Amino acid sequence: MKIKNICCIGAGYVGGPTMAVLALKNPDINITIVDINEARIAAWNDNDLNNLPIYEPGLKEVVQEARGRNLFFSTEVEKAIDEAEMIFISVNTPTKTYGKGKGMAADLKYIELSARQIAKVATTDKIVVEKSTLPVRTAQAIKNILDHTGNGVKFQILSNPEFLAEGTAVQDLLNPDRVLIGGENSKEGNETINALVDIYATWIPKEQILTTNLWSSELSKLVANAFLAQRVSSINAISELCEVTGADVSEVSKAIGMDSRIGPKFLKASVGFGGSCFQKDILNLVYIAKSYGLNEVADYWEQVIIMNDHQKNRFAENIVSKLYNTVSGKKITFLGWAFKKDTNDTRESAAIYVADALLNEEAEITVYDPKVSEERIYEDLDYLNTRSPEENRRLLKVVMEPYHACEKAHAVAILTEWDEFVEYDWENIYTSVIKPAFVFDGRRILDGQFMKDIGFQYDAIGVSILNNI
Ligand code: NAD
Ligand code: UDX
Repeated sequence: MKIKNICCIGAGYVGGPTMAVLALKNPDINITIVDINEARIAAWNDNDLNNLPIYEPGLKEVVQEARGRNLFFSTEVEKAIDEAEMIFISVNTPTKTYGKGKGMAADLKYIELSARQIAKVATTDKIVVEKSTLPVRTAQAIKNILDHTGNGVKFQILSNPEFLAEGTAVQDLLNPDRVLIGGENSKEGNETINALVDIYATWIPKEQILTTNLWSSELSKLVANAFLAQRVSSINAISELCEVTGADVSEVSKAIGMDSRIGPKFLKASVGFGGSCFQKDILNLVYIAKSYGLNEVADYWEQVIIMNDHQKNRFAENIVSKLYNTVSGKKITFLGWAFKKDTNDTRESAAIYVADALLNEEAEITVYDPKVSEERIYEDLDYLNTRSPEENRRLLKVVMEPYHACEKAHAVAILTEWDEFVEYDWENIYTSVIKPAFVFDGRRILDGQFMKDIGFQYDAIGVSILNNI
């Protein structure tokens, strides 16, 4: 089975980069990415590649090479579905905000709409690939919808979860640790799996393309994210212990990470993990476990989220307590708003929650982030509904220049680990801020001794207050 035309529904952080790399590596396959969001598609088609809707290092170059050759962005969803033999569903699956499972379960309405649209439009057999992250056994629901269209078209479902991380999406796609493809255990199922294996095998060694049954594939994605987030919460829990005992969390991370059974990655203490995936996917896992009556399993994984919320709260509380128990009317400068460096994505960013807590204390916040727009920052705050949009705009300002952002600040807080923050002229910043000059490093990226030598009261996650005196 040789695939010639692919359609991808959803031109977001996953659909866009994933299909761009697929197109780059398979010039003989036409790939059309469709989305109902017209502005997003227009941005993907923008002649100026600096206006792509997503910032990812290396993405511009990939899009430049493939776009118009065999990669197309369109709002004509039905046409692209009709023409494709293989359809990836890469729509959003956020946490439900209403009804049963509110605040826990994944909202599958966009998935179901996509499946119904495929069912309606298809006049030839199709392979439908789940690219979105989904609860285990969703393929069953998709198959039920597709198999009841009554127009005699045959559908095969594959699960092909995406493991890319934002900020390194292009590199992750070009050199993935593995590609996971789940399919039906039957002759047709195997043929379908192989059709997708062939597409990835144009650049990924076959040994790294893992094939499983559908349910293992769907569940593995949730479990991978749960394990990764659990490591961050584990080291963040230890960061608090370090602060009261005189240990240094980066030394502890290094010491335990050198054990090859533990490994060095994902042990960086922080102000808390963010991003669109970790929290949503763990909540979903917890919900699934509870729905099967596995309460101990659910409680175990829920603790990862509880710890993360605690980490964000205590960062904000520490700022208030160090600033003599009041931040009312004080200017606090945030360096960074994105949930991690090298991305303009802010979904679930710790910065949003730290800002909200400090605004409740009547702080006046100034934000500088190299890639996040003013509009996005206000949208993030307004979404919380804690105070009116006018109040948010009165209390929080966005400044496009970092030195200007820091002027006359009572404290500077680092929320994202952007490389440029390390390179700043901190002596210069010291002269422009209010004394005593506080820096709260939520990412532990600066050299503490250097900062103290300049004169800052430097406070970093996971570093002992005993050493700070
Ligand atoms: P996103 O919100 O950036 O993009 C989803 C897009 O789908 C949106 O542009 C939306 O307009 C579009 N869409 C929704 N319904 C549609 C429909 N019926 N027809 C056409 N377009 C439709 O989301 P994302 O970050 O790309 O995530 C997509 C999925 O991938 C989620 O399930 C997520 O959990 C998973 N995932 C995300 C990441 C990540 O790093 N962001 C990594 C791995 C997996
Ligand atoms: C994650 C998974 O890594 C990826 O495989 C999956 O496909 C999507 O979800 P992403 O959310 O883009 O990717 O970024 P990731 O690098 O995992 O970081 C998530 C959050 O954890 C960020 O806020 C990051 O700052 C934080 N983090 C990560 C830490 O605080 N410490 C670490 O050691 C690692």
